[in-house]
Amino acid sequence: MERINIYEGDNVISHILVEDGIQSLEASLEQYAHVYAVMDNNVAMTSAVAAEVADMLNRRGVPGMLLDVSEKTKCMDTVMDICGWLLDSGADRDALVLAIGGGITSDMVGFAASIYKRGVRFAYVPTTLLAQVDAAIGGKTGINFEGYKNMLGTIRQPEFTYICPQFLESLPMEDFQAGAAEMLKTFIIEDNGEYEAAMTLLKGLTADFIASCEGAATLSYNEERWPEVISARISEMTPLIAAAAKVKAGVVSRDQFENGERRKLNLGHTFGHAIESLAHKHHNDIDHGHAVALGMVYAAKLSEKLGLAEEGFAAKIENDLDSCLLLIISPYGINDLSGAMAKDKKAEDGKVHFILPCAVGNVIVRDLTVEEVVALLK
Ligand SMILES: NC(=O)c1ccc[n+]([C@@H]2O[C@H](COP(=O)([O-])OP(=O)(O)OC[C@H]3O[C@@H](n4cnc5c(N)ncnc54)[C@H](O)[C@@H]3O)[C@@H](O)[C@H]2O)c1
Repeated sequence: MERINIYEGDNVISHILVEDGIQSLEASLEQYAHVYAVMDNNVAMTSAVAAEVADMLNRRGVPGMLLDVSEKTKCMDTVMDICGWLLDSGADRDALVLAIGGGITSDMVGFAASIYKRGVRFAYVPTTLLAQVDAAIGGKTGINFEGYKNMLGTIRQPEFTYICPQFLESLPMEDFQAGAAEMLKTFIIEDNGEYEAAMTLLKGLTADFIASCEGAATLSYNEERWPEVISARISEMTPLIAAAAKVKAGVVSRDQFENGERRKLNLGHTFGHAIESLAHKHHNDIDHGHAVALGMVYAAKLSEKLGLAEEGFAAKIENDLDSCLLLIISPYGINDLSGAMAKDKKAEDGKVHFILPCAVGNVIVRDLTVEEVVALLK
């Protein structure tokens, strides 16, 4: 349906296929003689699309491994398990390892494939919105180490990323929201009219969801209605997923190894990670989507304080995120966040690369100390 290339100079080094359904995956695998598939166990158990993929892979005699996926199991032990399984299954240098799952699966399987026998080819079938617009694009692989997120990893491109939006039909609402926050982030970085289109769609989804909850005590009470709500709008989601994938592919093509522009993809994440890690410390976890949404509001407020964005810009972002249930009240003030922000692994020489939105479609990178940021946002 749509093909998006990722370049290194003039060479195509990876590509993304956005397809209506899973049927063409088989054709994408045709040229690889020895395929090994690793699938998120949860996806295997809940997704009808995954069942279709499993049938096709079984028919082709592709060996398969199931993974239990969480930030805890996103570690070296699991990578060793994957490498051990590849070895036991006879995978050689000509293997293609196919990862089917969300960002945790693609990060881990990509990492395992990039070190197994000094690196074999791999490809992704992302099954979450976050992985479809972000994690499965750009070649960053990784695992958590010594309590730090994605501390070990490589940058190595998948052969291809096959995006089938129908996977989202079984994705829980909280995981959809994490992807929605990343999709909006992408359109704040680069916008060709998709930001407003995405807002319209997300507001529509919110209205449908609220209507489906009629009579229920709370919105979360009725989350079992979510699959019905999202399933009805997959065809509207598809062009937005493709547009977000295209933005990320463009950024990666211009700055594969994150020496400059690719940093922009961290918009909202310095504040967001600080919120997530404080909340975790206080045993009151905040999910990634809501943390990134709050992070983008902090970033927009900082832009205003620095005179980079017009007055009212932060309030617009705040209202937009709120109108699609992406905003929560921050349990933390800027002083609370400063310690965690200073530990940000992207800090260099005491300064952190803050990504500052000047307007929708226009962000800049500015190096600031955490003390400067705290003084401005107090
Ligand atoms: N490599 C990169 O460039 C990059 C970019 C952003 C994020 N990430 C990483 O991605 C990870 C987060 O990814 P994620 O949000 O996709 O998380 P995930 O892989 O944990 O998936 C979220 C949850 O949804 C379940 N799930 C996945 N697809 C499903 C489906 N279709 N139906 C039902 N359930 C499904 C999973 O089992 C899991 O419980 C983080 O570890 C983050 O570090 C990597």
